[in-house]
Amino acid sequence: MDLKGKIVVVTGATSGLGLAFSEALVEKGSVVYGLARRQDRLREITGDLGPTFRGIRCDVSNESDVENAFTQIMSESGQVDVLVNNAGLGRFGKLVDTSTEDWDLQMQTNLRGVFLCSRAAVKPMTIQNEKVGFGGHIVNISSVAGLVGNPLVSAYNATKFGLKGFSEALMKELRSDGIKVTCMYPGSIDTDFFTEAGADIAANPMTPQDITSTLVHTLEAADNYLISEIAMRPLRPRG
Ligand SMILES: NC(=O)c1ccc[n+]([C@@H]2O[C@H](COP(=O)([O-])OP(=O)(O)OC[C@H]3O[C@@H](n4cnc5c(N)ncnc54)[C@H](OP(=O)(O)O)[C@@H]3O)[C@@H](O)[C@H]2O)c1
Repeated sequence: MDLKGKIVVVTGATSGLGLAFSEALVEKGSVVYGLARRQDRLREITGDLGPTFRGIRCDVSNESDVENAFTQIMSESGQVDVLVNNAGLGRFGKLVDTSTEDWDLQMQTNLRGVFLCSRAAVKPMTIQNEKVGFGGHIVNISSVAGLVGNPLVSAYNATKFGLKGFSEALMKELRSDGIKVTCMYPGSIDTDFFTEAGADIAANPMTPQDITSTLVHTLEAADNYLISEIAMRPLRPRG
């Protein structure tokens, strides 16, 4: 896909990976709709990136927030070419210390949010496929925690393994409608994620820009070339 002029939705655009994705896609000439809860951060980012970054306050786990966001995008731009389901969080700890609220928060953000945003994006993508023979591209940000279980990460593991299954099913369901689905499985990246998770970051993590380079490569692949899954890790996580 040539990203110039394309309508891209990035969830969790206010920090870390989502911010790096937004910066790179604006640079590529896309119109980027950044969805997140912190309105003040969205305004600052629009100030930095200019009018082709359009922030919409949206809690991805809230059905009416997601419906309103996609209604606004469709009325302003008439299409969704790319959806990057990036918003997500972890709350690490022993199972016995995991509150029901923390379990629910991870499920609602990392899985319900992906379901709500994907369902909203697939409708216009399907119509676009009928018109021009290519529907669009959905990229889901899972984690190596979607491939490998580990102590103290059980709730987060469950969401990211869940996202693997969701992505594989959706990829097979939508490919005949000209819609690509890619699932990415990154290891440690230097973002605010670990503060929220209450865990130590690896000594030598990847950068958000490392992951962004692979996102852009994946989106720019030829229409009939579907990169469905990618795992990425730091070479020397302990430095
Ligand atoms: N960092 C890592 O090592 C790593 C590794 C593998 C996978 N990942 C995955 O990468 C993704 C991005 O994480 P990150 O590392 O960039 O962390 P981050 O810097 O903490 O960013 C998380 C983003 O998600 C947004 N968000 C959280 N809950 C949301 C909600 N309910 N609705 C809308 N937006 C929400 C936050 O924005 P607001 O607070 O403004 O809503 C923020 O922009 C996550 O899915 C994470 O699981 C991270």
